Amino acid sequence: MGEQLVTSSFSTASTVVADQPVIAVTSLTVRYGAVTALREVSLEVGRGEIVGVLGPNGAGKSTLMRTIAGVHKPVTGQVLLEGRPVVGGAPEKAARAGLRLVPEGRRIFGPLTVEENLRIGSMSRGSTLKDDLEAAYDRFPILGERRSQSAGTLSGGEQQQLAIARALMAHPTVILYDEPSLGLAPRIVDQIFELIAHLRDEGVTSVLVEQNARLALDLSDRAYVLGSGSITASGKSSDLAKIDLAQLYLGKGAQR
Ligand SMILES: Nc1ncnc2c1ncn2[C@@H]1O[C@H](COP(=O)(O)OP(=O)(O)OP(=O)(O)O)[C@@H](O)[C@H]1O
Ligand SMILES: [Mg+2]
Repeated sequence: MGEQLVTSSFSTASTVVADQPVIAVTSLTVRYGAVTALREVSLEVGRGEIVGVLGPNGAGKSTLMRTIAGVHKPVTGQVLLEGRPVVGGAPEKAARAGLRLVPEGRRIFGPLTVEENLRIGSMSRGSTLKDDLEAAYDRFPILGERRSQSAGTLSGGEQQQLAIARALMAHPTVILYDEPSLGLAPRIVDQIFELIAHLRDEGVTSVLVEQNARLALDLSDRAYVLGSGSITASGKSSDLAKIDLAQLYLGKGAQR
């Protein structure tokens, strides 16, 4: 039954975005020297969707996120953001176009204060820095309390909140989350996933990389499974959730 689900949903309307996709990735191949991290990867993300990207360690998930964010230059293929090409090696351009990456491992600046970290993420969209900081502290009261504390002294969950708050300072329309649940207690993970769902309700489009496949499939609308640099399965998250995880990760039943 599982095989049927993946194979059939792969090519039906459920995995194809009706309007112009916010993100369209076509035949992306990315190499690090002799290592091919992504091979002919194609995916689409529609406006207001939460799309999951699942897969085991080393599958290429972070490489895919960084390439969509304009960090890496693909060998072949392209990334379109709102129909416009993302230029590899120029992440500031993707950022200006409204995309923000919440990177794996948070990547906050430990020696700087919470507020200094937020200022770094700031990108004026007609609002003042003061308003944006206030909005961040409204959304994340703990960050308000800790605004003058060096970010490196925050707990893991607080650092993840700071990483997301820093991304939101740019008023993004698209957020790529790379393993936001990593190393966090279940209660904190629930809060972060609730926030991602809430941001979707505010109209933000999201891509969610997760090793915790069950959680990601619960939250996302559709998902892609990456294995060794290639998409091995894709479909509606509710359909993929019915498939045994090991089978899903092995790519059994997926169209190639
Ligand atoms: N800077 C780099 N130089 C060389 N190889 C790299 C580099 N970054 C990643 N790789 C390799 O590319 C492949 C994909 O790595 P990537 O970090 O994208 O995987 P991932 O799916 O995010 O893994 P994880 O779940 O562990 O975060 C791996 O084989 C990795 O060793
Ligand atoms: Mg990774």
